[in-house]
Amino acid sequence: MKKLLIAGNWKSNKTVQEAIAWLLEWNAKCQMLNAKWENATVVLCVPFTLLYPLKQEIDRLQLPIELGAQDVSPFPDGAYTGEVSARQIKELSDWVIIGHSERRKYFGETDEILAQKVDQAKSAGLHIIYCVPDKETTVPPGVDAVAYEPMWAIGTGKSDTPENAGEVIRGIKVKTNIPVVIYGGSVTQENVASFVSQEAIDGVLPGGASLDPEKFANLIKNACNPR
Ligand code: PGA
Repeated sequence: MKKLLIAGNWKSNKTVQEAIAWLLEWNAKCQMLNAKWENATVVLCVPFTLLYPLKQEIDRLQLPIELGAQDVSPFPDGAYTGEVSARQIKELSDWVIIGHSERRKYFGETDEILAQKVDQAKSAGLHIIYCVPDKETTVPPGVDAVAYEPMWAIGTGKSDTPENAGEVIRGIKVKTNIPVVIYGGSVTQENVASFVSQEAIDGVLPGGASLDPEKFANLIKNACNPR
């Protein structure tokens, strides 16, 4: 059985209090559902402000979930006001998303900046999920996983078809030689199994569906324990 990567992306949502409440409720739902995921790595990519309190709680309760950031500075530690360096992120989490289409669209991130971010993340030892909107977009060397996320499918409720996503992902694998490629764009508890049952698709990157603890627990269960 292939190993899945399920990475929730909270985007710019939740306060510390809301995040801790989510974690406790998510854990309770997973236990209620008896969801098991030895065959999956579950990662929660959260705003920087939530990494520390969530890490404390995850460590305390020994929960089977890893943390990730949603961005990283293209520079090392130093005089870069407002940035969070890869070394600072690595202190609190093991994963980072780089190149999400919202970063490209609203913050003007270019392939050049993104390659710098990958270098920084890599040298700090972070696992990198690199997002691309299609199979033509360049993927810098050194990333651990690629997320294929067609822009029109993000936050719209209109996902790609599993067949097309599988086809694009096969193409990305051939082009980049990166073995782990996941799909993102309106993934839900209802459609997740149809994506991960495609041979080429190694997991999913749900945004909206990760904000609700019950939906995220169901999504994990449906991905890992298909009926
Ligand atoms: P969505 O977001 O699941 O809400 O479409 C996915 C993403 O932007 O990573």
